[in-house]
Amino acid sequence: MVRATAEYGCVRFRMSHVPVLLARSLDALHPAPGEVYADGTAGLGGHAAAVATRMKTGTVVLGDLDAGNLGRAAAAVEAAFASAPEHPRSRILSFHTNFAELPRRIEEAGLRADMFLADLGFASVHVDDPARGFSFMRDGPLDMRMDTTRPLTAADLVASLPEKELARIIADYGEDRAAGRIARKLVQARAGGPIRTTAQLAGVVRAAVGGGGGPIDPATRTFQALRIAVNDELGSLAALLAAVEADARRILSGGAGRWLAAGARVAFITFHSLEDRPVKRVFASLIAAGATDITDGPAAASESEVRENPRARSAKLRAIRLTPN
Ligand SMILES: C[S@@+](CC[C@H](N)C(=O)[O-])C[C@H]1O[C@@H](n2cnc3c(N)ncnc32)[C@H](O)[C@@H]1O
Repeated sequence: MVRATAEYGCVRFRMSHVPVLLARSLDALHPAPGEVYADGTAGLGGHAAAVATRMKTGTVVLGDLDAGNLGRAAAAVEAAFASAPEHPRSRILSFHTNFAELPRRIEEAGLRADMFLADLGFASVHVDDPARGFSFMRDGPLDMRMDTTRPLTAADLVASLPEKELARIIADYGEDRAAGRIARKLVQARAGGPIRTTAQLAGVVRAAVGGGGGPIDPATRTFQALRIAVNDELGSLAALLAAVEADARRILSGGAGRWLAAGARVAFITFHSLEDRPVKRVFASLIAAGATDITDGPAAASESEVRENPRARSAKLRAIRLTPN
């Protein structure tokens, strides 16, 4: 049973969790028994459980900003390892942390990852649960935090940021040409009382932009922008990519990695150009330094995968292998 919604610029369906680009990711990561797999965005554990099933035995390191998702992912990986009980020595390590911190945690655990995956963005449970405040389809508190232990919600940003900064966020992270108008309207609206719910925010944005009438709700870009700002998504990605690049250069020049193993496969799944551009840039410079481009540029979902899993429509997988020169 599916229910169509239109959020964050693509049509979504509420359905059981389907990991994006799963077959392509497994091909790129190429799991082997006994290896170490690190997943920076464990989510519901879809990719991680499939890797564990392929490895049969090994170590899985899970990280996620969302403690609930992390628990779900660990349970999924445990079940996957349990299906190969002849290999009892598997290990699962879970870290409730930003993926920017995961390389350090892996190093502190004395591990080097043979495979690393970051499947960026939010999880289906975030949009499906109105209480998390990611959705403008159903009203809920204006929250949008992936990590609910962090102090600042989207409502706090909308209440406190100067008009100029709101406009910058909506322009830069939402790529919305109406950013100035939306920011002005938000500042006018909040003078009349706090904007506390997703429906209130969507209403103000629609009033600023006008009806539109197109398939994409005019609030889509502002919601994406605030979500990126609340969770510092691009700052975290930049820090993670810096850690990938530093270790990759050590390995490619014949040294030892601190958290990645020689021969490691490193993969990113991105959903929009603000995420894809920095991944593409760092991977291009590592490929120039000798890394192998496993996916030969970005891999996209097939038509049949998009039909089954509409979130895959905008997904791009990039993967490299760090074989020393
Ligand atoms: C698209 S889902 C991952 C789905 C997962 N691959 C699966 O198959 O179930 C993205 C997950 O990354 C988490 N996340 C987003 N940004 C993060 C960050 N900076 N650090 C750690 N986790 C993050 C979200 O909480 C969410 O659970």
